[in-house]
Amino acid sequence: MKKVFIIANWKSNMTVEEAARWFEEESNIEVFINNALILKDKTVQSEDGDYQKEIIICPPYTLFSTLKKLIEDKKLPFKIGAQDVSPFEPGAYTGEINARQIKEFGDYVIIGHSERRKNLGESDDLIFKKTEQALKNGLTPIYCIQDENTQIPNGVKIAAYEPPGAIGTGNPETPDNAHRVAGVVKSKYPGVEDVIYGGSVNSEIIQSYIQKDTISGVLVGGASLDPVKFAALVKEASF
Ligand code: PGA
Repeated sequence: MKKVFIIANWKSNMTVEEAARWFEEESNIEVFINNALILKDKTVQSEDGDYQKEIIICPPYTLFSTLKKLIEDKKLPFKIGAQDVSPFEPGAYTGEINARQIKEFGDYVIIGHSERRKNLGESDDLIFKKTEQALKNGLTPIYCIQDENTQIPNGVKIAAYEPPGAIGTGNPETPDNAHRVAGVVKSKYPGVEDVIYGGSVNSEIIQSYIQKDTISGVLVGGASLDPVKFAALVKEASF
């Protein structure tokens, strides 16, 4: 069974109240229900075989328990992911949230996003340590790469190709080039099973990436903050 990953990166957005609204407005939930693709028919058939949409919401840590409860209450097929993880073991590391704590809520973690590299000076060395902690605690890293030359540590199965110039700019990478980079990454790192694309993805263009046989999903920032836009995007995603 193939998976299409649709990953919402909420970044530093949303309060508890706003998150509850994202989930609670009946009309928004109906959009998901009516699309049926994700709620009723969780397995979708296509010419290439059956596949499943793996929808992962990555909220700020402050929203973890709110989202966990909302997802359970509404029986939505969403997984939770973190946007970052501590490079350390649990202990005296003020301000850090460790992998064991994340695992209480979610299964995934975004690691090495270019906004953190740029704004917080995260290095490969630090990002590798974070990956190690994630893997050790059973979290699946969604490992961000900026181009085909970004180093990927052992154990990473999902790489997210996110060219910095495409993030939040409305100027997405062309599907052909994303396909080319994904191909290079997969041949360079045979352990990488899935390459996803991120950078100004919306419901109108999602399909052009997912149709490429090297690309198995998208990482979405801006368009994931509006539940109607996000639901439209989920609906459009198919192999
Ligand atoms: P964007 O962000 O969809 O707003 O371009 C993507 C990302 O940074 O993950």
